Amino acid sequence: MIDCKKLINEAINAREYAYIPYSNFAVGAALLTESGKIYSGCNIENASFTPTNCAERTAIFKAVSEGERNFVAIAVVGGKHGEKVSEYITPCGVCRQVLAEFCSKDFIIISAKNETDYKEFTLKELFPGSFNKESVL
Ligand code: THU
Repeated sequence: MIDCKKLINEAINAREYAYIPYSNFAVGAALLTESGKIYSGCNIENASFTPTNCAERTAIFKAVSEGERNFVAIAVVGGKHGEKVSEYITPCGVCRQVLAEFCSKDFIIISAKNETDYKEFTLKELFPGSFNKESVL
């Protein structure tokens, strides 16, 4: 059973570290591994725009770089800095592609406004027909 509240709270905390001088849109993510560890991440923008890294990819790259490759769920919280989160946001296309590299079709994506108001999706729902390693290997 996934502790959604805990995962969402970790995402809310990570959101505080968002580096967002260009968009002022702060995102936090918290990724749960099969072993029960949580890796958090925030979005990190750049003056050259393209190198900007989303919160979800920050979390997954942190985890993979520490030897984790098996994931159960990710919580995502995002909105304008300093305002109440009013939208359910879901990972962008690039992040969906990165998630699909490591996560199964039934990986859970929790899109939250706060710890009690959230929606759950599977990766398959958000990223059907994806191109993945089975095609290449
Ligand atoms: N962003 C994320 O971090 N995650 C998402 O799911 C959507 C977008 C970031 C990228 C950029 O820093 C800002 O939000 C506005 O697009």
